[in-house]
Amino acid sequence: MKPALTGREVDSFYHLSDVPMDHRCCRGTSCFAAKHLDGATWRKALEQSPPVYCLGKCYASPSTTETTGDPPVQFACSDPIVLAGVDAFDQQSLEGYCRHGGYSALEKARASAPEKTVAEVELSQLRGRGGAGFPAGRKWRSVFCESAVTKYVVANADEGDHGTYIDRFIMERVPHRLIEALALAGHAVGARKGYIYLRKEYPVAEAAVRKAMGEAESVLAGFEIELIIGQGSYVCGEETSLLNSIEHRRPEVRARPPYPTAHGLFNMPTLVNNVETLASIPWIVLHNGAAYAARGFSRSRGTKAVSLNSLFKRPGLYELEFGVPLRYILEELGGGLVSGDFKAAIVGGPLAGLIHPSEFDVPFGFEEMAAIGGAMGHGGIVAFDSNTRMLELLAHIFDFGAIESCGKCTPCRHGTRRAQQLFATAAYERHLSDEESRELRSILNALARTSLCGHGTGLAVFAESIFEKFAEEVAPCFS
Ligand SMILES: Cc1cc2nc3c(=O)[nH]c(=O)nc-3n(C[C@H](O)[C@H](O)[C@H](O)COP(=O)(O)O)c2cc1C
Ligand code: SF4
Repeated sequence: MKPALTGREVDSFYHLSDVPMDHRCCRGTSCFAAKHLDGATWRKALEQSPPVYCLGKCYASPSTTETTGDPPVQFACSDPIVLAGVDAFDQQSLEGYCRHGGYSALEKARASAPEKTVAEVELSQLRGRGGAGFPAGRKWRSVFCESAVTKYVVANADEGDHGTYIDRFIMERVPHRLIEALALAGHAVGARKGYIYLRKEYPVAEAAVRKAMGEAESVLAGFEIELIIGQGSYVCGEETSLLNSIEHRRPEVRARPPYPTAHGLFNMPTLVNNVETLASIPWIVLHNGAAYAARGFSRSRGTKAVSLNSLFKRPGLYELEFGVPLRYILEELGGGLVSGDFKAAIVGGPLAGLIHPSEFDVPFGFEEMAAIGGAMGHGGIVAFDSNTRMLELLAHIFDFGAIESCGKCTPCRHGTRRAQQLFATAAYERHLSDEESRELRSILNALARTSLCGHGTGLAVFAESIFEKFAEEVAPCFS
């Protein structure tokens, strides 16, 4: 095993190691989309170094660390699961959470065999909400079946996808739901220790989770939880990079296999799940897996939280049943845009295809979104109006992509920066030459085919979707 590194070799990887989280302007895509609403804040975000990507205040973009105010929380489903209680402040304490039935799922699970909980998660057909949509039950079963004495469970609270602030508010308003779920996961798969990997950009969530961890000690019955605060790296949300970060190694992405379920944290079987995924678990345990699977549609079961950016007339957090048309979310729930017509939307972060308004009737589900070249991702929705020029958007996304590359694959390490330069040239200076256009195509091709993780492949998919769906606008700039 490679020895753990210390000092600058590790710290230099991160953007925010020694950076206080005040007076920082967000350079995320939601703030990019809304830059015409407050040009001064956006310009400051561009000037600041290091950049800060996504403060999770996309409902008030362009935002800063000093932006105050909370997003409205609304339920477009009966019996909400993950956002229940997020619309109020009375479940932040252990006492308040228990008053609403908190920790009764843990009690119920502990009264039966761990395998029963694993089986219920399988029956629920719950899929990961962190991006990939992988069946949670399959992961839980894999870790459960490992014979190692030491196993770990990890909550991925890095929520780096621009436009997404779902996990943030679950942790701020109902932090015990995450803690209960982590303890449930530990009980089910046989882990006595859990980690929460939380981004530095969320100081309020950090305080809420820290306080809740202290309060919960009495109910956790020896299950230990450690809170790790990220130091500003988008790619640390990728699960293997995250595990390296916890181990204090340089947090590059690990090649798979082996998968974390067999060789994860400190080489031990490890369950990594996203915060929203975990937030579904207490409900599943209390109501059973079949009741969860009875909701939703197609291969997307249960409910999903989505977050809408500041260009919407009604930005905020919504929990809904899968299967509704995307248009319903954008136009009925979100109320359309404050600034005219939709030009496009990103669903679930910038590592998937852009959605064109002609595709808005797609039913909201994992496979259905993928069929139009998009993704469910994390559920953050960033809408763009006619103020967004697609070449500028490409330059912005590839700037982010280059800054956040972990550097392991050459096309991503060097290619993203070169692609950003070419997109910026086309956006702000002149049309690209034949040679430059060919170079750009070959970078995108290499990114799509050779990247080790979804960062590189996703950036290529994003660019290709704009070439295809906004050809009239961008094609004249390339030879
Ligand atoms: C570049 C990159 C960034 C990611 N960032 C996050 C993140 O911030 N939060 C998250 O939960 N998953 C993120 N993921 C997905 C994780 O690798 C992993 O699939 C997820 O944590 C598993 O949990 P789930 O099955 O509950 O979704 C990211 C993936 C990639 C490729
Ligand atoms: S695609 Fe980029 S971020 Fe992903 S492993 Fe390769 S270099 Fe790292």
